[in-house]
Amino acid sequence: MRLRTFKRIIFGSLFGIVVIVSFTDISFVPSGVMHTPCNIQPMDPWDESLKPYLVKPKKLACSDKFDLFYFDYHGILHVNESVAMHYNILHEELNCAYQPIKRLDGDSEVVFADKVRFSLPTAIKSHVFRITCHHSMTQKLVYDMTHFNPFWNEYAKLKKTVGHETPSTPSVLLLGLDSVSRSHATRNLPKSLNFLRNEMGAYDFVGYRKVGENTYPNLVALLTGKSHSSFPFVTNNWAYADSLPFLWKEPFMKSVATVYSEDRAEIAAFNYIKRGFEKVPTDYYFRPYNLALHKFQPVLNEQLPKPDMDCYGYRNYFELLLQYFKCFLQVNNYKRKFGIIWSNQVAHEEFTALKRGDESLLEFLTWMKNNINMQNTILVILSDHGYRIGGASLTHIGREENNNPWLMMIVPPHLKSNVTIERAIRKNTQRLITPFDLYQTIYDILKYGNVPVPVHGNDVKPSLTRRNLFHPIPSFRTCTDAGIPDYYCTCHEKTMVANNSELVKDLAKYIVQTINEIVSANENSCATFTLLKIREASVVYSPKDKLNIPTKLANAWTSIGYFGKLLRSENDLDQLTGRYNIMFMVSPGDAVFDGLVDFSQFSDDAERMTIIGQPTRLDRYGNQSHCVDQLSLKPYCYCTDLIAS
Ligand SMILES: *[C@@H]1O[C@H](CO)[C@@H](O)[C@H](O)[C@H]1NC(C)=O
Ligand SMILES: *[C@@H]1O[C@H](CO)[C@@H](O)[C@H](O)[C@H]1NC(C)=O
Ligand SMILES: *[C@@H]1O[C@H](CO)[C@@H](O)[C@H](O)[C@H]1NC(C)=O
Ligand SMILES: *[C@@H]1O[C@H](CO)[C@@H](O)[C@H](O)[C@H]1NC(C)=O
Repeated sequence: MRLRTFKRIIFGSLFGIVVIVSFTDISFVPSGVMHTPCNIQPMDPWDESLKPYLVKPKKLACSDKFDLFYFDYHGILHVNESVAMHYNILHEELNCAYQPIKRLDGDSEVVFADKVRFSLPTAIKSHVFRITCHHSMTQKLVYDMTHFNPFWNEYAKLKKTVGHETPSTPSVLLLGLDSVSRSHATRNLPKSLNFLRNEMGAYDFVGYRKVGENTYPNLVALLTGKSHSSFPFVTNNWAYADSLPFLWKEPFMKSVATVYSEDRAEIAAFNYIKRGFEKVPTDYYFRPYNLALHKFQPVLNEQLPKPDMDCYGYRNYFELLLQYFKCFLQVNNYKRKFGIIWSNQVAHEEFTALKRGDESLLEFLTWMKNNINMQNTILVILSDHGYRIGGASLTHIGREENNNPWLMMIVPPHLKSNVTIERAIRKNTQRLITPFDLYQTIYDILKYGNVPVPVHGNDVKPSLTRRNLFHPIPSFRTCTDAGIPDYYCTCHEKTMVANNSELVKDLAKYIVQTINEIVSANENSCATFTLLKIREASVVYSPKDKLNIPTKLANAWTSIGYFGKLLRSENDLDQLTGRYNIMFMVSPGDAVFDGLVDFSQFSDDAERMTIIGQPTRLDRYGNQSHCVDQLSLKPYCYCTDLIAS
């Protein structure tokens, strides 16, 4: 068994050093499926099986859009009188001071500098700062919140070095919402989607696919054009992310204003289980604000709850992030801009949480259309993957959606009016595409200003992984061509098979055994899993096997079996050979996993089953793996001490 031998070698000789790297490499065993042209079909967002999960999300305790303080266009701080009135605050009676917020130790800490007293209106020479106000008579603490000043930014490049937007020096802006599949956007963002389609003329890319499990690998592909496995030091938490070849570090970005911001510090793509950035990566960067707000309990007339996953006082993170983005856009209107704004808050935690974001997103898009020059801007609205954990993500359709993130794009009128380009983009909405292609598109646009003319039109290498979306992408593109690992390739049609056949049970047991080996090679505090039940099984046949489907179906459903058997004899072909996707539950812990395994009926025993990629944990494991430190092992470990108790 080629693959497993390879794995043993890695575990044996390099144990503890490149375990995580080896996991990613193991998955690359190109197969027939990977070379089959992709069959792009939109999924049904309202599939029957999702019904139980389509509940109304509960209202957040925070949905205010305004703070007590605001900056005018000249960078002068004022009190918003109507907000003050609402909270019964007379600002003339307050003594206020601000403290600039400084980063310490890269992305991990912030500190508050000395207090500077001020009275309003005033200019504040700090990008991120904390305001505290006491009542001048009673000394009561009336206000304590973190703020940002868009008009003063000690981290940004000099304003005069930023060039102007023109058709040949355009801007590119990415607005990302974590965990939103295309279907998920359809279900939860009807107003925004309507606006994007009908008022902004957005293209809707049906064939966008993820290239890695969670946010990090997909954002690395998007922002560097390379696989995260090319950067083991950063990926494995040994080095800061500063060393990655991000788009914003390209030489041609010296005259472009940049922003990169996420709204939840603790799960940010380059910080969650990662080192983050040593230096501020872009001109505008939200993280110091985000870290600072978690350092003290906010006060607005009274003490407000501690910041949680959604709320900072009466404001939610998505609103705050959009406000920060608006500020960046306003300050740099008509100037060249590049950036990515990424909301982890709006959709990450509950299946229908995203619904709450529709109004805010619509309001933002409307504001942008009315206030920001879009004549020379490419605006991309996107996600990294679908909803990943628990609930609906365990359904068959939920798992398909997971691989099909949302992607829409608004292109400037001068590109759209070029018939060649317009037609190419429109066709590409039905092609297999990935974050690698998006990278190349953005790179070309920022570097060359306009769409570069390809050498011979369509006549580029068929297997080109990074393709410019403004040029035709072949319909025969395969997952291998597009750089999509086997595990996430959903190009083919699946055939559901019965979950109680001996073969399916054997395959599931084989995956369980693989999981047990992954943990036992590293740990002895984890329980050995046994197969409890199989929840779903499907198979994809390679092109050669497709001829064989009637008999294969026969094997799964006896009603067809009779005719199947009439058509061909049982044992003339390798009827069972194919790639099986099995979702199953194990004991202890009722853990749910999903695994991919190739079965080759007529191979030698040792070669018959091959694990593809690495099995995925589908339910929340919480504290079950508290006894292991290695994060890559956490999904696979059920600590034995939990059984004893
Ligand atoms: C002040 O707050 C009100 C809502 O209370 C809002 O409508 C208004 O736009 C805010 N003004 C400024 C300048 O932010
Ligand atoms: C349209 O774009 C293509 C590709 O960049 C270019 O070759 C062509 O000259 C453009 N046509 C017009 C009318 O500008
Ligand atoms: C097959 O799935 C059904 C429905 O989920 C379940 O009741 C049954 O136990 C499963 N069979 C096996 C062999 O796991
Ligand atoms: C997890 O469980 C272990 C063992 O029961 C316990 O010692 C630990 O405090 C728990 N941690 C959390 C965060 O609940």
